[in-house]
Amino acid sequence: MTSISRRPLVGGNWKMHMVGTEARELSRELVARLDQPAAEVVLFPSPPLLPTVAEVLAGSPLAWGGQDIHVEDAGAYTGDVSGPQLADAGCTWALCGHSERRRDHGESDALVGQKALAANRNGLTPLICLGETLSERQNGDTFAVLERQLNGALAGRPDPFALAYEPVWAIGTGETATPEIAQEAHRFLRETLADLIGEAAAGAKRILYGGSANPQNVADLIALPDVDGFLVGGASLDPEKFSTMIGCCGEAA
Ligand code: PGA
Repeated sequence: MTSISRRPLVGGNWKMHMVGTEARELSRELVARLDQPAAEVVLFPSPPLLPTVAEVLAGSPLAWGGQDIHVEDAGAYTGDVSGPQLADAGCTWALCGHSERRRDHGESDALVGQKALAANRNGLTPLICLGETLSERQNGDTFAVLERQLNGALAGRPDPFALAYEPVWAIGTGETATPEIAQEAHRFLRETLADLIGEAAAGAKRILYGGSANPQNVADLIALPDVDGFLVGGASLDPEKFSTMIGCCGEAA
């Protein structure tokens, strides 16, 4: 596959952590440390924290997004968040199909595809998450799972979008994919992407790695030809770690 330059992208997935005062403090710390970030940076706070984060990040190079998005733009869907609500809160991104949503909320591949389209419809870029569980890997099903998830996510041909390869066994476990495992999966995703949207378009898409990414392991991972950044959970709550990881993306460029 021809190599073309892809600006690194780093997402901070805050999950269901923090209240407003903590979110304000972390946002301020990040704005202070990242006045010229070596990567495109987007923070994903819980919905009630979005106005606070937006207020602090406004005018900075940092963007923010939703951790999930409903397929409909409005309606009787208790507890859900719509694309227009995210856009109104200044979001420019939305996570779609995070494995915790797939696991805890039964999100199917087809639903994830509809969510990606809902994001585009509202001017948001979906960051589509996919990855195999430990048993799927042990059974030799990794590529089949990734292909099925990618086909579902892209069924309606969303654009723009970015992907995050997040092996479920690496999320929050402290066990990171080795560079060999990461590159093999990222290469497979890019080749499968090329079959779906063409080689040039596939070569321009960012594919992030997620799963216990930390300041110690990102340098080896970002150096890989098909790793274009990170989706960071735990380490994104620590401003020093998170900004160090973003800095590593610049050193690889
Ligand atoms: P982790 O989470 O970095 O804490 O493993 C990554 C994610 O779930 O996006």
